[in-house]
Amino acid sequence: MTSKKKIAVFASGFGSNLQAILDYQSASKPNGEVVLVFSNNKAAYALERAKRHKIKTACFSPSDFAGREEYDKQIVKMLDCEDIDLVVLAGYMLLLGKHVIECYRNRIINIHPALLPSFKGTHGIKDALEYGVKITGVTVHFVDEGLDSGPIIIQETVTVSQDETLESLEEKIHRVEHAIYPLAVDYFCSGRLKISGRKVIITT
Ligand code: GAR
Repeated sequence: MTSKKKIAVFASGFGSNLQAILDYQSASKPNGEVVLVFSNNKAAYALERAKRHKIKTACFSPSDFAGREEYDKQIVKMLDCEDIDLVVLAGYMLLLGKHVIECYRNRIINIHPALLPSFKGTHGIKDALEYGVKITGVTVHFVDEGLDSGPIIIQETVTVSQDETLESLEEKIHRVEHAIYPLAVDYFCSGRLKISGRKVIITT
């Protein structure tokens, strides 16, 4: 029997995606286990969720260090110490440094609340709504050095209605996120994701 993959979740805020992953893992026989929750924001509710589940937490931010390089080195040190197999960005609102991406290449995934490559950045839902798209959605992707630019693992569409508000669209998007992110994590932990150039094959 192969051992469970060790997962670190990075979250800057509310942590509803972290919760969805934890709920999925307690309801099924997962191939991975969240062993660490990291935040750059000490007020992040995600840290509370982790504590409630007795998961180890860590919290520090770039301002705690002399420079961004030191912050990145500390992140890699923390991940190495815990022997992490997969880093899951779940509303982590800082760009990961080059050093972290190099050390954990193809082992970091992110969820974005729009259909990439449209509406990259930190306001994907609002930007899509204001643009007037009729269809938006959610993307789970590997993380590379670019902004929301790595190979796509899963995408799911969300229809924008005529009377859509930011709040109603956020609710629809989050519902989809909570359904697909735990699946993507499970695919990775089961060794089902193969990257071929820009394409990600999900094997059976
Ligand atoms: C999610 O909607 C996620 O897609 C988004 O932040 C939210 C975090 O919610 N991430 C980004 O916009 C990244 N560019 P959560 O803290 O409740 O999981």
